[in-house]
Amino acid sequence: MTFPKDFLWGGATANAQYEGGYNEGGRGLSQIDFCECIGKNKGGTEYSHELSYERYLYNKEHQDEMNLPFRRGTDFYHRYKEDIALLAEMGARTFRMSISWSRIYPTGEEEEPNREGLDFYHRVFQELRSHNIEPLVTMVHYEVPIALVEKYNGWESPKTVELFVRYGKTLIDEYKDEVKYWVTFNEVNWSVVTPYGATGVFTELSKKDRLSCMHQALHHELIANALLVKYCHQVSPDAKIGVMVGKFEIYPLTPNPLDVANAYKEARLNTFYFDVAVRGFYPAYMKKYYQDYQIRIDWYENYEEILKGDSIDFLAISYYNSNVITADIDSARSKDNILVSPDNPYLKKTDWGGLIDPVGFTITLEELYDKYQKPIFVVENGLGAFDEFKDGKVHDDYRIVFHREHVKAMQKAIDDGVEVLGYTTWGIVDLVSASGGQMCKRYGFIYVDADDDGKGSYDRYRKDSFYWYQKCIASDGTDLD
Ligand code: BG6
Repeated sequence: MTFPKDFLWGGATANAQYEGGYNEGGRGLSQIDFCECIGKNKGGTEYSHELSYERYLYNKEHQDEMNLPFRRGTDFYHRYKEDIALLAEMGARTFRMSISWSRIYPTGEEEEPNREGLDFYHRVFQELRSHNIEPLVTMVHYEVPIALVEKYNGWESPKTVELFVRYGKTLIDEYKDEVKYWVTFNEVNWSVVTPYGATGVFTELSKKDRLSCMHQALHHELIANALLVKYCHQVSPDAKIGVMVGKFEIYPLTPNPLDVANAYKEARLNTFYFDVAVRGFYPAYMKKYYQDYQIRIDWYENYEEILKGDSIDFLAISYYNSNVITADIDSARSKDNILVSPDNPYLKKTDWGGLIDPVGFTITLEELYDKYQKPIFVVENGLGAFDEFKDGKVHDDYRIVFHREHVKAMQKAIDDGVEVLGYTTWGIVDLVSASGGQMCKRYGFIYVDADDDGKGSYDRYRKDSFYWYQKCIASDGTDLD
């Protein structure tokens, strides 16, 4: 059992959580720059990147005296050479990163892109190439220029489609000789869960109800995706482009047919985005869902025609955990529409309560491949944990166990015929947690000396998992001890 020789092993990051340099190089502010750290909260349904309008106004007024961690990230902006050298030492063949929309178009509406911003990413891509590391680039990862939030209520407006497509075209034109793997949207499914964090939308400012407003924003993203997939195929025919979904494996709690039916329905909702991006239309079950929940969408002009265009080249997924569903699905949702899974007695949980399930990972890969017959790029998988940093070392055997089991699970799917392009572990260099704004929830193989308050040297250290992954890659996934 071996992985293909050209398998793209690597690590994943996102600008809003990693890049920093928020007020340098002509960058504008984004919605995420106003989000706080929620402290040592161990999960639940409180999200640092979910702000009400009222809270946003408060944070805006008090921004100078607040702890706003997404502005700092973990300083990739100044340390990219050092980080890329560490990735190269680890043997990484690919590096997933995202571009900051507000670094390229600071307010989203400038006539011309910000040359300083474009040049920063040229330098990063050159550095990656000099180490034979293939960039895998997400166009937008939980970021919207704040000016577009204030002016158009983010992705609720069709105007944002136009502006984002212009931004995406700028990226494709500018980097077509350097970037061969694009992801349009990170976890597009979070648009209907955390509207401010994912799409820069204040649902309370909308004329629509909350669900309709979130699905409106999602509709606009799916349109933008289709337009950019088509453009990428025309302008950069050697490149591959996909959209990303945060994928869960979903189990019924019991054999009660109602549990099973709900698990099936929930699983279908979890992949609906791929139905649209691969097949090119809204499936009937989704239109029925809109009817049942009285969700009102203003369909984008010629939307059917636009979606019918080109299909994505690969499915990008994150996989962290599985969920369990009961017959009473509505009570399983928190007020924010987030699925709260009951425990699964067969599975252990992370420090933050996620169900650890490598078997579910194999099932996910096989199901997706059976359903869409498209290659899959696993662009996120990882374990958020408290690390103990002592004498320059972190003995993170729990993380090694997690990744070893997930690599084996992926190998099993590949053996069964699933085409997997690569595997980029989440937060390969420690970065700010999206849901908590914390540093104490770490995923990396490389430790960053920074705490929740932003204090620390920001120096980098190799964890035990660094050496484990180095061996895993060097042996093409055969030496996992
Ligand atoms: C994914 C996101 O949902 O999960 C990342 O794409 C995020 O941005 C990751 O960081 C882990 O979540 P968290 O909340 O633990 O950082």
